[in-house]
Amino acid sequence: MSPFIVTRTLPVDATGADLRTDVLQGLGRDPKSLPPKWFYDARGSELFEEITRLPEYYPTRAEREILHARAEEIATATGARTLVELGSGSSEKTRILLDALPRLHSYLPVDVSESALTLAAESLLAERPALSVHALIADFTRGLTLPGSPGPRLVAFLGGTLGNLLPDERAVFLKSVRALLLPGDALLLGTDLVKDQATLIAAYDDSAGVTAAFNKNVLAVLNRELDADFDPDDFAHVAHWDSGHEWIEMRLRARRDLVVKVRELNLAVAFEEGEELRTEVSAKFREDGIRSELAEAGMELSHWWTDEAGRFALSLSTPA
Ligand code: SAH
Ligand code: AVI
Repeated sequence: MSPFIVTRTLPVDATGADLRTDVLQGLGRDPKSLPPKWFYDARGSELFEEITRLPEYYPTRAEREILHARAEEIATATGARTLVELGSGSSEKTRILLDALPRLHSYLPVDVSESALTLAAESLLAERPALSVHALIADFTRGLTLPGSPGPRLVAFLGGTLGNLLPDERAVFLKSVRALLLPGDALLLGTDLVKDQATLIAAYDDSAGVTAAFNKNVLAVLNRELDADFDPDDFAHVAHWDSGHEWIEMRLRARRDLVVKVRELNLAVAFEEGEELRTEVSAKFREDGIRSELAEAGMELSHWWTDEAGRFALSLSTPA
């Protein structure tokens, strides 16, 4: 069996230091907001997997359809020997790529969620003993240093997770991805596309309430990690389509006036009834916008594939 290595580039206490800073800044500003990476403790990662199976949540199925249709083309175009995957989660769709890349030597999944990463890496190694798997517990917005592995490298960023970054964060992030690429390497990017509001709202406010539970999970993370006393029942899940920015915003709306204590930070946070805490943006894209954001970061889009229904896109880009 080939080696299975886990490297942590986040300090063990990352949910101490980073979370403290994000909570102090995010709950201190008006309007209040938190970065979405804090959803993904073990429970949050499980809830996300449940979301991917919901009838209303089309992105995972649409992206899987494109991967099945295009995996061979991707293999031919890239000749990848190393697959790096940012925000890899369960690596479930990735198996389509792993099966299609005949020259693949190494798989480097990168995620902040240690539980998702180790579960995925363990099962992949059991299924594919010849594959070298090196999992990285890391924050992909913080600049990545990758272990040595044979090229060409294909960097995959699937699921539409790019849309969870704000535009200025996206620009910095895409430049950091560009810095990982050598001539001959490529970026495979999954992006959800602009579509009618009803489809989008249903995808982020499903009838079974799984997305609501995922959204409220961030409160459980704050309660556990920072000794806060959020009562999830005091908040309503909100999915709002912002047609100007072309993004979904997930928010938590206070059902009454309340004060939450965050004991680890010596903080008392007041919410007025109806006040909303933004927990995530999920931007939806158009081909021209993606092409120009990639160009701005020094990459050239060479392939653009969508599912039959035109809901989701996969694009392949190379260093310009
Ligand atoms: N790529 C998978 C999972 C998407 S969910 C799919 O397409 O289904 C988003 C994943 O990104 C989660 O596993 C989450 O833990 C991870 N993630 C979110 N923000 C991150 C960050 N800043 N750095 C590293 N991983 C992050
Ligand atoms: C991970 N990311 C692309 C998901 C999305 O659709 O923005 C996270 C999510 N939020 C609510 N549902 C799923």
